[in-house]
Amino acid sequence: MSTGLPMTVPEPGLPGRVTIYEVGARDGLQNEQGVVPTEVKAEFVRRLAAAGLGTVEATSFVHPKWVPQLADAEALFPLVSDLAGAGVRLPVLVPNERGLDRALALGAREVAVFASATESFAKANLNRTVDEALAMFAPVVARAKDAGLAVRGYLSMCFGDPWEGPVPVEQVVAVTRRLKDLGCDELSLGDTIGVATPGHVRRLLTALNEAGVRTDELAVHFHDTYGQALANTLAALRHGVTTVDASAGGLGGCPYAKSATGNLATEDLVWMLHGLGIETGVDLGRLTATSVWLAERLGRPSPSRTVRALGGAASHKE
Ligand code: HMG
Ligand code: MG
Repeated sequence: MSTGLPMTVPEPGLPGRVTIYEVGARDGLQNEQGVVPTEVKAEFVRRLAAAGLGTVEATSFVHPKWVPQLADAEALFPLVSDLAGAGVRLPVLVPNERGLDRALALGAREVAVFASATESFAKANLNRTVDEALAMFAPVVARAKDAGLAVRGYLSMCFGDPWEGPVPVEQVVAVTRRLKDLGCDELSLGDTIGVATPGHVRRLLTALNEAGVRTDELAVHFHDTYGQALANTLAALRHGVTTVDASAGGLGGCPYAKSATGNLATEDLVWMLHGLGIETGVDLGRLTATSVWLAERLGRPSPSRTVRALGGAASHKE
């Protein structure tokens, strides 16, 4: 019978601690068919924080017509912003100055812009070319930094693109470098459609280092479409990456990339990290209970293998 915890067997050379950057409330809920009530979203964010996640991406200040699922950002953010006082980081997505103004008006302390390595996705997601998108982000990053905010730069389609196919490593390196030069503090490499494999991850990380992007500036953001997200994460950990994006219960996808499925499930990630003896600060039982609770509200089971394996026990603990 499972104890609900993995046996700990460390692998030499891996980091002692990993920062989990939880994206379920944003990347997960932006893709829901139905609109999740604002109070449920707020409760979800609070439960994630209570489970020990120190970084919980809360919402997006994008055009409400582009992502109606997150059109309640103004109502939601004030319901959770007190968590910042308890040391929880609550980043939000902002595509442009209008989005930044909305986030600043509510006291957000951390924002993320989101670029694409490919022209097709830049057009589909931002209605801009890659160059136009970076020009749109330049004043956002500059103003956010002037206001003392931390700024993350996402880069989508780092491994493959549904319209363009495989994406050359040099193309990804070039746009990542431009995001860094804009002043982003952290760069999150998105496998938006989940096609990456571990050797590809290693090759991209090495190429970025060779182009002057340090490993400690990088985060990885894997979607699990082909079941590769954990293997890819382990490849990134072996390279020295210590920030990993994940989504509670494996929620997610991207409304502007139809072949994207859920993100790497946070529970699956925590099971592996704790098994490797890597600290995360997360209470796996509480986190699983949160995903079970949300799945009941969404009306379907979580796709996370760990949530399924532990879910019964977690729902009893609620
Ligand atoms: P656009 O239609 O080109 O907008 O969209 P525009 O700049 O021409 O402005 C048109 C109108 O929208 C104006 O109003 C603006 O004020 C308004 P009007 O003058 O006509 O009355 N507007 C806004 N209103 C509220 N908030 C705003 C805003 N901006 C403009 N921020 C835009 C351009 C960038 C706005 C649009 O394309 C957009 O919102 N895109 C967001 C798409 C999105 O959120 N995608 C999902 C997140 S990315 C992702 O999931 C990938 C990731 O997880 C990593 C990975 O997996 O790869 C991060
Ligand atoms: Mg994503």
